Amino acid sequence: MDLFQYKNGVLYCEDIPVNSLPEKGLPTPFYLYSANTLRQHYKKIYSIFEKLQPMICFSVKSSNNVHLLNELAALGAGMDIVSGGELFVVKQSNADLSKVVFAGVGKSDEEITDAIVSEVGFINIESEQELARVQELAGELKREVNVLIRILPDVLDEKTNEKTRTGHKGAKFGIDYAHVEALIEENADHPYVKIRGLHSHIGSPISSYTFYVAAIQKMVELVEHLKRKNIRLDVLNIGGGFPANYMDNDNFSWESFAGPITELLEPYVKNEGFKIILEPGRSISANTGIMVTKVLYVKQSGDKHIVILDGGMTELIRPAMYNAFHFIWPVKPQPEHVLANRNYPVQQEGLITYDVVGPICESSDYLAKERPLPALRQGDYIAVFTVGAYGMVMASNYNLHVRPAEIMIDKDKIYIIRERETQEDLVRTMIKHEL
Ligand code: LLP
Repeated sequence: MDLFQYKNGVLYCEDIPVNSLPEKGLPTPFYLYSANTLRQHYKKIYSIFEKLQPMICFSVKSSNNVHLLNELAALGAGMDIVSGGELFVVKQSNADLSKVVFAGVGKSDEEITDAIVSEVGFINIESEQELARVQELAGELKREVNVLIRILPDVLDEKTNEKTRTGHKGAKFGIDYAHVEALIEENADHPYVKIRGLHSHIGSPISSYTFYVAAIQKMVELVEHLKRKNIRLDVLNIGGGFPANYMDNDNFSWESFAGPITELLEPYVKNEGFKIILEPGRSISANTGIMVTKVLYVKQSGDKHIVILDGGMTELIRPAMYNAFHFIWPVKPQPEHVLANRNYPVQQEGLITYDVVGPICESSDYLAKERPLPALRQGDYIAVFTVGAYGMVMASNYNLHVRPAEIMIDKDKIYIIRERETQEDLVRTMIKHEL
């Protein structure tokens, strides 16, 4: 469930009618977040995995505004980060750094050093070479650091977009499963780098719990093998990739995912004191945000109806990049087109099939193709739903568009949480000087 609903003929975010924001002069396009949806989603994911008493490390790459991170940190969330930039933002938030996990295949010396000195909870190790480098740097600093070894479990969900699969053989992520046991044995006694457990992330989003079960079984097998060699691990990080609802406004079946995973892991928590880490991104953040854009023009091209918006691939690249589906509907439709529920396809008479495009000079700049929508007119405000994850964070300045503002609604309060960039910002770092 998210808190974007049609009431009195207009789309509301919590208690605020969405059209009131551009009508007050807020330029479109902008991102609009519901603070209570964010809170509810965090609580929901925690509660369905509660038996595991998990450490939920929110995947900052999906949504990185410090004010949104603060909302999650206030509920006890940890953070999953992948760069020095994300560590920097997390340090500006109220998050507890001991609940931070740092993944990523290519961490630089500066990033590793920063993570060690900042005492993040765990660094996820993605290659033998990286483990060696972390050992060298921790040795030089004489500082202890906890690490998890990211296994490449060779698990593939073919429903996951090819561009976001991470757990199959030959992927750039993690360490080949067959090598992990020996690697841990050889490095179990390092004075500074403590191998505490295993990590796996098999892709995003994952369509069924069966893939998690397959990956976790491999992790558990390793834990048992190592136990026989008297090497004790006590942390299992099962990654993120839990789905969000892009087609409607109900949640995915959280319980169906959690049940079998919990069954496998509960004995390790109850009997052996294991800590379980999850790294959800989109399942928490996707449904917390919409993008509000305006119709600039409606035109005909051959037999196609084209609607041109003031927001496109520079604000939301997912349709262009992954052919991703986002539900789209006018903020204030004609009365006969008001929606009781968002459910695709919409069962209504009198819709027109549009290609929904942005203003960017690229043929791939579209938000939806052949999408049935109510008749649109110049000046209409349009909501693009489920963009709270991998929306604003992937926005760019291509064609020198300024990146949009981010607004957060908390019941009847409206907060600007990121200013829209200015054209001065676009040239701010274009400074010529001789080296
Ligand atoms: N943990 C690790 C190690 C990851 O690489 C990711 C996502 C996550 C957790 C969080 O996954 P989530 O729960 O959000 O699915 N830009 C793409 C998604 C790329 C995901 C990268 N890694 C998209 O727009 O769908």
